[in-house]
Amino acid sequence: MPTIRRYRPEDRDAVAEVCLRTAAGGGDATGVYSDDALMPEVYALPYVGYAPDLAFVIDDDGGRVGGYVLGVADTADFIDWYAHEWAPGFRARHPSPGPPTAHRPAYTEAQLIADGGDPERMRIAELDAYPAHLHIDLLPEHQGKGLGRRLIDTLRAQLADRGVPALHLGLDPANTGARAFYERLGFHELPSSRPDAPLLGIATR
Ligand SMILES: CC(C)(COP(=O)(O)OP(=O)(O)OC[C@H]1O[C@@H](n2cnc3c(N)ncnc32)[C@H](O)[C@@H]1OP(=O)(O)O)[C@@H](O)C(=O)NCCC(=O)NCCS
Repeated sequence: MPTIRRYRPEDRDAVAEVCLRTAAGGGDATGVYSDDALMPEVYALPYVGYAPDLAFVIDDDGGRVGGYVLGVADTADFIDWYAHEWAPGFRARHPSPGPPTAHRPAYTEAQLIADGGDPERMRIAELDAYPAHLHIDLLPEHQGKGLGRRLIDTLRAQLADRGVPALHLGLDPANTGARAFYERLGFHELPSSRPDAPLLGIATR
């Protein structure tokens, strides 16, 4: 039986792998960009660097990580940390897009690299009311079994215990399955949400 446990430093590579394998609108993004490290370096690794205590993983029984939820309690503080501690290294590692791949993703490598170096993209209008945010990804074999709901419940409870009132997330508009999942859990659209950049929020309790 898979269990949910806290993130440990030795999970870092596995978290990056789960991110890569779910980063193309929920499907496998391996080979989509010239460097498979890009997606995890923008959407997973900064989170376990900044807030390992708000990262929870699915342990598949054999000690393998099959999914995660990664959270930050205070997005404004995370933006500050990212600007000083993460963006400079990211920009140095990825100064410009690599050669195009055969995939031609809608979310281009140029945009991904620009986002990776620009934490201000996370400063949404509703930050005061929804200060926390999260990313959640499960490998296909763990999807549809209630583990996503449990991961979100785990993170919401942790945030509530810290007095954080609400959280938000952004999602790929092409990821209709994830949207259905969030709506089923009670997330609602935020006022600054746009069709090309959906934003959802929920109270922590
Ligand atoms: C989206 C994701 C996190 C959902 O987690 P999950 O474990 O598969 O979802 P759960 O089994 O916990 O589902 C919880 C509820 O949402 C519903 N739900 C989940 N996916 C759904 C879908 N595609 N369509 C409709 N309802 C869905 C379930 O029916 C369930 O309802 P219930 O609790 O009332 O029975 C997971 O499938 C995933 O990681 N997908 C790939 C990566 C991804 O898209 N991440 C999100 C990026 S924004």
